[in-house]
Amino acid sequence: MAFDARELRRVMGSFCTGVTIITTRDDAGHPFGLTANAVTSVSLDPPLVLVCVDRKAESHAHFYTSKVFVVNILSEEQEALSRRFAVSGGEKFADVPCHPGRLGALVLDGTLAHLECRIVETHEAGDHVIHIGEVDHAETHGGRPLLFFQGKYGQLP
Ligand SMILES: Cc1cc2nc3c(=O)[nH]c(=O)nc-3n(C[C@H](O)[C@H](O)[C@H](O)COP(=O)(O)O)c2cc1C
Repeated sequence: MAFDARELRRVMGSFCTGVTIITTRDDAGHPFGLTANAVTSVSLDPPLVLVCVDRKAESHAHFYTSKVFVVNILSEEQEALSRRFAVSGGEKFADVPCHPGRLGALVLDGTLAHLECRIVETHEAGDHVIHIGEVDHAETHGGRPLLFFQGKYGQLP
């Protein structure tokens, strides 16, 4: 049966998620990042998480070369940051409080938590690529989450 992509988007939009910014870097160490909610915990032993990255994303190629990423889990104060990182191009990191993580990708300040990961497996899946990362370092900072539901940002009541 032919399936309408808009219907899939509508259905998956009913799955309320948090919002992350996934950061990586290029060979010269320049930072790249994108807003993502296709992020899942995969395994506790070994500790694995996956992220799904659009092949059309500017940052796409840099995941292959650096083989590292950071999952920055956004707080409800970071909606503007999420919007900024959901658009390709521009100086995404200008004036963003952040610092280099242990693997060279940037860790954003003011998040609920972050995970620093080394890519151990990559699977091509349609128009996206699934990167599975082994967690090298994980930290929680506390706060309230930014939510995404039916195409809109939200907060816990
Ligand atoms: C809430 C939200 C979730 C998103 N989730 C993903 C995702 O999981 N994977 C992805 O590749 N793009 C996702 N996007 C779209 C990217 O953020 C967008 O394509 C971005 O421009 C890519 O940045 P880049 O081209 O600079 O790499 C999401 C956007 C929003 C607003």
